[in-house]
Amino acid sequence: MVNQQQRTLGESPAFLRILEEVSQVAPLEKPVLVVGERGTGKELIAARLHFLSNRWEGQFLKMNCAAISDSLLESELFGHEAGAFTGASKTHHGRFERAHGGTLFLDELASTSPLVQEKLLRIIEYGEFERVGGNKTLYCDVRLIAATNQDLPSLAESGKFRNDLLDRLAFDVLTLPPLRERDTDIMLLAEHFAVGMTNELKREYFPGFSTEAKEALECFLARDIRELKNVVERCVYRNEEAREISEVLFDPFDSPYRPIGQTNEPRPKHNVISLPIDLKQTVREFEIDLLNRSLTEAKHNQRKAAELLALTYHQLRGYLKKYELLKSD
Ligand SMILES: Nc1ncnc2c1ncn2[C@@H]1O[C@H](COP(=O)(O)OP(=O)(O)OP(=O)(O)O)[C@@H](O)[C@H]1O
Ligand SMILES: [Mg+2]
Repeated sequence: MVNQQQRTLGESPAFLRILEEVSQVAPLEKPVLVVGERGTGKELIAARLHFLSNRWEGQFLKMNCAAISDSLLESELFGHEAGAFTGASKTHHGRFERAHGGTLFLDELASTSPLVQEKLLRIIEYGEFERVGGNKTLYCDVRLIAATNQDLPSLAESGKFRNDLLDRLAFDVLTLPPLRERDTDIMLLAEHFAVGMTNELKREYFPGFSTEAKEALECFLARDIRELKNVVERCVYRNEEAREISEVLFDPFDSPYRPIGQTNEPRPKHNVISLPIDLKQTVREFEIDLLNRSLTEAKHNQRKAAELLALTYHQLRGYLKKYELLKSD
């Protein structure tokens, strides 16, 4: 179960809009779909939806649909009768039964099988289901919150996700902004993670970041919140107790002894170009290559990367946006 006390931090306009939407939709008895890239806080938002709803005293259960096989998922969600399959010695109550009166959070919804999707549709429409291996129709009252980092409408279009289920689930869709659209939240989150790590280490207090460390963090192009969390926690534990944090290690693999791999060698791609070429396309590729190299060399500090290319910070951001290099992989 997700810790109720976990704080949802953010003051950036993009994030405040989401919190506003969460407060509006939380009290409704409707399913909600939470969409967002990796590490955008989908699980945290799902918990918030539950605890701001009228079901807050009820169960908040979670199931990651990608973590187990299709048949196991079916019995984890809907339960099974004794003898339903080899090894099923007792009746098993599924997540839906156990979440009765509360909320069920289905993470990674896009990976569910057609059979599970069909059963989900029925439970959303009528609250009805059968345990695996059972023929008695059971009823439950559960609010569904589902999350995905995939584009469900495209999956539905290509027949990989049921259209009718998407319609039912998507009463409201909350699309979470990635960290790169929440510049002003970086330090807020960084300090929060630093204090958390300080407590975990049983140290007395968090001595704060130096001006340089703050600047480095603010310019850091983190893939997602989890990466920021790792970076911050690492510099807290590596730092001496009670001394201001002045050094931030962004890449834990960084070492003069790092074995040379296939991907960490710069590729001299544009040295020999034979004509004819498509000039615009070639220039575009060249620019992308240089942008990527400068970011790698600057360890994803965008201010340093800009310096390496004799650009201002805002010019660099302009290029990164133009080529969509701000997208996480
Ligand atoms: N607004 C926030 N305030 C504080 N912590 C946050 C916030 N958003 C995310 N986090 C923290 O970042 C981490 C990732 O969040 P979460 O697990 O909710 O993301 P997710 O979108 O479910 O990621 P994934 O797609 O990888 O499952 C967690 O440790 C979470 O506590
Ligand atoms: Mg998650």
